[in-house]
Amino acid sequence: DDIPTLRSNLLSWYDINKRDLPWRQQLKNPDVNQRAYAVWVSEMMLQQTQVATVIDYYNRWMEKWPTVQKLATASLEEVNEMWSGLGYYSRGRRLHEGAQKVVKELDGQMPSTAASLLKELPGVGRYTAGAIASISYSQVTGVVDGNVIRVLSRLRVIGAESTSPQVTEVMWSLADHLVDSERPGDFNQAMMELGATVCTPKNPSCGECPVRGLCRAYQQVETEKKKSANKL
Ligand code: ADE
Repeated sequence: DDIPTLRSNLLSWYDINKRDLPWRQQLKNPDVNQRAYAVWVSEMMLQQTQVATVIDYYNRWMEKWPTVQKLATASLEEVNEMWSGLGYYSRGRRLHEGAQKVVKELDGQMPSTAASLLKELPGVGRYTAGAIASISYSQVTGVVDGNVIRVLSRLRVIGAESTSPQVTEVMWSLADHLVDSERPGDFNQAMMELGATVCTPKNPSCGECPVRGLCRAYQQVETEKKKSANKL
């Protein structure tokens, strides 16, 4: 069974290679409500926007509204102005709406499980709920986004092009099965990070991949290379 090796190789790689992103610094905050707010803001921004663009917006947002309570007091005009340039303004509106709900109805406490995040927060789907729950509350739950789908597809040689509901369900089961129970948030971020920086859509850097020894797609390619080398 190669799952423990997959987990430990991936996490060791992540510890050394993880990008220093501003919302990751918040993860050292002992205030769990604050961690959840920071991850929520970052994940909402990251839903349709690249990491490089999000960094400045995230920093400005957190400077203006450092807590969910502060965000709840903002006006919609201020929120839209802050979001200007990021696109898909409903994401900002939903953060604002969600903050008001947390303050008015939930006693200022962010929901703390994937199921309650999904239920209570507008604009938070299965992925975002799992990301907040695992990254800020260490809930043992997998997450699946485009990067994770590509990584899992290659590891297990599942047809990556397919976005059918059945394949999506297989991906979620696999992610839940693989996630490290000691460090679920780091494991999930490591999967996304691997997809974003190594296991890229085109020309993946397999030579730098910490889990290539367990990757069926990599093994197939290497076997083919050896076969054609033998024919020369
Ligand atoms: N993309 C979306 N959320 C991310 C995260 N937490 N880490 C890396 N890439 C991401």
